[in-house]
Amino acid sequence: MTNVPAIRLSRIVKQYRMGDETIPALKGIDLDVSSRAFVAIRGPSGSGKSTLLNICGLIDHFDAGSYQLGEQEVGSLDERARTDIRRHRIGFIFQSYNLVPVMSVYDNVEYPLLLLGIGDRERRARVLEMLHHVGLDALADRLPDQLSGGQRQRVAVARALVKAPTLVVADEPTANLDTATAEQIIDLMKTLGARFGSTFLVATHDERMVVHCDRVLCMTDGVLQ
Ligand SMILES: Nc1ncnc2c1ncn2[C@@H]1O[C@H](COP(=O)(O)OP(=O)(O)O)[C@@H](O)[C@H]1O
Ligand SMILES: [Mg+2]
Repeated sequence: MTNVPAIRLSRIVKQYRMGDETIPALKGIDLDVSSRAFVAIRGPSGSGKSTLLNICGLIDHFDAGSYQLGEQEVGSLDERARTDIRRHRIGFIFQSYNLVPVMSVYDNVEYPLLLLGIGDRERRARVLEMLHHVGLDALADRLPDQLSGGQRQRVAVARALVKAPTLVVADEPTANLDTATAEQIIDLMKTLGARFGSTFLVATHDERMVVHCDRVLCMTDGVLQ
C-alpha cells in the first residue's frame, strides 16, 4: 500500500493546437512522486510547468502516455469521473489566488465542502478549524479585495486543504509575495500538507521555495530532469 506512488506519469505527451500550428508542451514525461512528498518543479517560463500541473490536477487532458493517481489510471476516465476526483482529492493553489471575489473568506473556504455535499455542522467545524490553522479567524467575513496578498494566499491554502486532498497542485504560489510572506505560505503548506497527508506538486522559480522541498525537478522545454 505505502509503495504505491501518489502519482505515476509515464511518457506523457501534450501538444497545444493553434490553427495549423502545433506547440509541443510536454515531450514524454516520466515521473513517480511518493505519497506525502513535497516536490518542486522549476524551469524557465514556457518550459511546461503549468501544463504538467494542469494535467496532474485533471484540469487539462494529455495526448499520449498514462497517468496513475494512487492506484487509479485516470487517463481514460470521462469528464464526470474526472470532476469527481478533482472535487474529492485534489486541491489547487495559484499565483493570483483565484478566490471568488463576491464571496467572503469563510464562504471561499466552505465552497469545496458544499460541492462535496458535506452537512452543515461538519462543514462549519471544518471551515472554522481551517481558518484557525491559517490565522484568519478574525477575517472570516471579509471579501478577498479587503485582504493583503499574503492573506489572500492563506485563504487559498485553506480552501485547497479543507477537504484533506490526497494531492495539492500549486502553480507559482509565492511569486506575488514578499520574502517574509512567502516563507509563511510555504510553512503553512508544509504544515497543513503533513497534517492531512497530502502530496504537493509545486511549480516555482522561487529560490525561497526550493530549499523547503523534499525533491526538486527541473523542466526544460517540455522535458523533465
Ligand atoms: N492554452 C495554450 N494554448 C497554446 N499554447 C499554450 C497554451 N498554454 C501553454 N502553451 C504553450 O505551451 C508551452 C508550455 O507552457 P506552460 O505550461 O504555461 O509553461 P510554464 O508554466 O513553465 O511557463 C509554452 O510554449 C506555451 O506557450
Ligand atoms: Mg506557468
